[in-house]
Amino acid sequence: MDLKQYVTIVQDWPKPGIKFKDITTLMDNGDAYRYATDKIVEYAREKQIDLVVGPEARGFIIGCPVAYSLGVGFAPVRKEGKLPRETVKVDYGLEYGKDVLTIHKDAIKQGQRVLITDDLLATGGTIEATIKLVEQLGGIVAGIAFLIELSYLNGRDKLEKYDILTLMNY
Ligand code: PRP
Repeated sequence: MDLKQYVTIVQDWPKPGIKFKDITTLMDNGDAYRYATDKIVEYAREKQIDLVVGPEARGFIIGCPVAYSLGVGFAPVRKEGKLPRETVKVDYGLEYGKDVLTIHKDAIKQGQRVLITDDLLATGGTIEATIKLVEQLGGIVAGIAFLIELSYLNGRDKLEKYDILTLMNY
């Protein structure tokens, strides 16, 4: 299946010059959403994943159906002030902005093999921060899966030590 036909390119959003990749039209199509999810599930099975971790909000959209299909848990990474119990946190830089990401301190058990999921690899800042959180808690980043990679932003350079699956490239 050619997944790109389900992604809508939105010019100059959220800022002038940015060609936003809108995945809501992919999610809106049951066959395309399931196809993309199944590809990531297949990858996760090879990597013998124990837990899926994804950053808000679109990392949830990719990670949760994968976790459900594998029968493993999902741990959310959220922006500061959203998680109710004790967290660890890390600063990160976005393609357009800056923020703090957090995860519950007890979300990952030592040695668990973690799959990180997100919709998009742009500069890699979000995933680099998510990796730091997972590793701080003793998790092993066994794989990272994205729907989309913007290869012209070279986000992969930040993730050299890790195994990455991307389903679409721009
Ligand atoms: C977007 C996207 C990725 C990240 C990619 O999320 O969903 O998580 O940016 O950019 P990077 O590789 O340069 O870090 P955003 O922070 O906009 O949050 P949202 O999913 O809650 O809208």
